[in-house]
Amino acid sequence: MTRAATKPQSRFVCQSCGEAFLRWEGQCRSCGSWNSLVETVVREPRRSASSGAPPALAAESAPLASVPEPRVPRHPFGIAELDRVLGGGIVVGSIVLLGGEPGIGKSTLLLQAAAGICATGGATVLYATGEESAAQVRLRADRLGLLSGPAGSAIRVAAESEVGRIAELARTDRPTILIVDSIQTSTVDELDGPAGSVGQVRESALRLAELAKSESIAVVLVGHVTKDGSLAGPKTLEHLVDAVLALEGERFAPLRIVRASKNRFGSTEEVGVFEMGATGLAELDDPARAFLSGGANVGAGGAAGERAAPGSVVAPTLEGSRPILVEVQALVAPGPVGTPRRTANGVDPNRVALLIAVLGRRAGIGLASHDVYVNLAGGLSVEEPALDLPIALALASSLRDRPIAAGTVAIGEVGLLGELRPVPGLDRRLREAARLGFTRAIVPGAADRPDRSGPVEGLAVVRVDSLREAVEAALGPAAGRVAAAPARC
Ligand code: TYD
Ligand code: MG
Repeated sequence: MTRAATKPQSRFVCQSCGEAFLRWEGQCRSCGSWNSLVETVVREPRRSASSGAPPALAAESAPLASVPEPRVPRHPFGIAELDRVLGGGIVVGSIVLLGGEPGIGKSTLLLQAAAGICATGGATVLYATGEESAAQVRLRADRLGLLSGPAGSAIRVAAESEVGRIAELARTDRPTILIVDSIQTSTVDELDGPAGSVGQVRESALRLAELAKSESIAVVLVGHVTKDGSLAGPKTLEHLVDAVLALEGERFAPLRIVRASKNRFGSTEEVGVFEMGATGLAELDDPARAFLSGGANVGAGGAAGERAAPGSVVAPTLEGSRPILVEVQALVAPGPVGTPRRTANGVDPNRVALLIAVLGRRAGIGLASHDVYVNLAGGLSVEEPALDLPIALALASSLRDRPIAAGTVAIGEVGLLGELRPVPGLDRRLREAARLGFTRAIVPGAADRPDRSGPVEGLAVVRVDSLREAVEAALGPAAGRVAAAPARC
C-alpha cells in the first residue's frame, strides 16, 4: 500500500462496464447503467507481459501431486460452539466476516471469543472499534466478567476506524487476531465517500484482507445486515473474505445461532447454538432440545402430559452433523375476500406456497382462501427440504383444529405429486428424537421399499408413502376421531 504525499486520486468506476470518471454521476455515460459508479482508489497499473517489458515473475505450474500440502494452523477460541462452526478455530492469516442484525450480539460474541483466545496462553487481540468508544468496550468486558482475567491485558482496544492507522497499529502490536468492529464504520483516507458507502466498505475490506495475508494475522470483520437479511455493502465483500459467519436469532428471544454461509477452511453445515444471558452468550448443555417451545407436543423428556396444541409438529432436523429438534408452528384462518396472507418465519415462503398447493390437490386439505402463518420456534431458520412434511402436517393440523398426538415427530420431503421422499441421516434424527423422549415418528418409506435405518428403541416408526397417508397417520381419518395409526415398521 503506498501513500503519496499529495492527495491520492480516486475515480468513480462503473461496476457494469468499468469506465472511470472524475466525478460521481447518477448514470454511467458510457453504458447507461444507473447508480453503478463506485468511488475507487487509483492504483499504479501493473506492468503486464504484453507491454514489452519482461514480467517480474514468470508464471509457473506444477504437477498436482507435487503441490505442497496446505498448512492451516488454527487458533481455537476455546468456545466449542464457535470453533465447531469455523472447523476447529480461526485460521492464521485468514479473514472472517461476522454478520448479523444490529443488537443481536456480534460485539458480545467477539469480545468473549477474544477473551477465549487470550486464555489459551500467548495469544493477543487488537480490538479496533469504530462503533463504540474504548470505554464502552470496557464496560461490556466488565459486564462479561473479563476484566480481571488474562483478557484484561491481552486484549488491546483502539477507538479507530481508519484502516491505514488500524493496519499500522496491527503491524506494531502484532496481535494474533485483529477484530474490526465494524466494516461499515471503516474508512480509508484516500476516498472521500462516507463510511458505509460501497467504495469505502470494499476498499477497507480489501486492505484488511491484504493485511491478514501479508502479516499472518487473523482478521475478523463485523458486518451489519440489512432488513432483508443481506450484508450491508457490496456483494463483493463476501467474495473478499475466507469465511462468512452469520449470527442469527430473534432479538428479544435468548437463543442465538452462528452459521457459516461460506468457509474456505471448513464445512458450511455446522451451527453453533448460544443463549444470551445477563453475562453474555453461553453455550447450551443440550442444543438438540433448545428449539422446542414449552408448549410443544414434546415427549417424556419435555413437557410430558401437556396437551398438544393444533398446528404444532416437532421435526428432527439435521444441522451439519448434529440433529436439532425444532417445533414447527402453523396457524390457518379463513381470510377475507381477496389475496390471502402468507407469512413464513424461518422457512422458505415459496416452499410453504408449494406445500399449500400440494396439500390442496393431493391430500384434500384446501387452504386456497385461508390466511396462513408458519413459524419455527426459537428463531431458527431451516433450509432443508426435509422440513416439508412437518410444515404440511402443521398446516393440516391447524386447519382441522386437531392436535397431533404428543410425543410425535415427523420428517420428509414432499414432491409435487404428493409423494414423500426419503431424507438423509434418518437414523441419526430418529435416535435423537428417542433420546429426547419422543415415542412416535412419521417418516417417508413404504413396507415394500425398506430403507437402511434400523429400529430405534422406544420409538414407533410409521412409514408413509404419500402426503395423504401422512396426514391420516398424524391426524386420523378426515371425519373420524383422533386415532393413532398402527405402527408399520
Ligand atoms: P451487542 O453485542 O452490542 O450487539 P451487536 O454488536 O450485534 O450490535 O449486543 C447487544 C445486545 O445484547 C443488547 O441488547 C444487550 C444484550 N446483552 C445481554 O443481554 N447480555 C450481555 O451480557 C451483553 C454484553 C449484552
Ligand atoms: Mg456491536
